[in-house]
Amino acid sequence: MGSNRSLVVMQLMILLTVILTVKASTPAVVKPGCQKSCGDVIIPYPFGTGDDCNITAGFFINCNTSFIPNKPFLGNSYLEVINISTDGQTGLLQSGATR
Ligand SMILES: *[C@@H]1O[C@H](CO)[C@@H](O)[C@H](O)[C@H]1NC(C)=O
Ligand SMILES: *[C@@H]1O[C@H](CO)[C@@H](O)[C@H](O)[C@H]1NC(C)=O
Ligand SMILES: *[C@@H]1O[C@H](CO)[C@@H](O)[C@H](O)[C@H]1NC(C)=O
Repeated sequence: MGSNRSLVVMQLMILLTVILTVKASTPAVVKPGCQKSCGDVIIPYPFGTGDDCNITAGFFINCNTSFIPNKPFLGNSYLEVINISTDGQTGLLQSGATR
């Protein structure tokens, strides 16, 4: 049970880190030449599905095509990305553990 709790805390910390990092970056738009969505979720830069589409490895979105519609996951984690909303200034990554 204790290890479950620390896993949740770790995932929350990842989530907070992502929110704070995106806040500090420039307005988010989909980068030209990059996959613009995965399933129902739009993927604005600095997030991306690989190579130069994500600004760093920490912003990598793993679009899993085993799901219909496809499901985006944050990096190599089990955090499913529910939505990345932008107001031109702030990006918010909402995610929840799926397993
Ligand atoms: C994007 O993420 C992938 C997977 O982690 C990584 O290989 C790639 O180098 C990243 N792109 C940049 C520009 O860091
Ligand atoms: C996609 O999801 C399936 C089912 O959870 C999993 O078996 C597979 O390894 C995932 N693929 C990638 C590329 O993450
Ligand atoms: C994601 O968030 C945006 C802005 O809040 C909203 O317009 C959009 O409908 C949401 N998309 C999904 C799939 O929840």
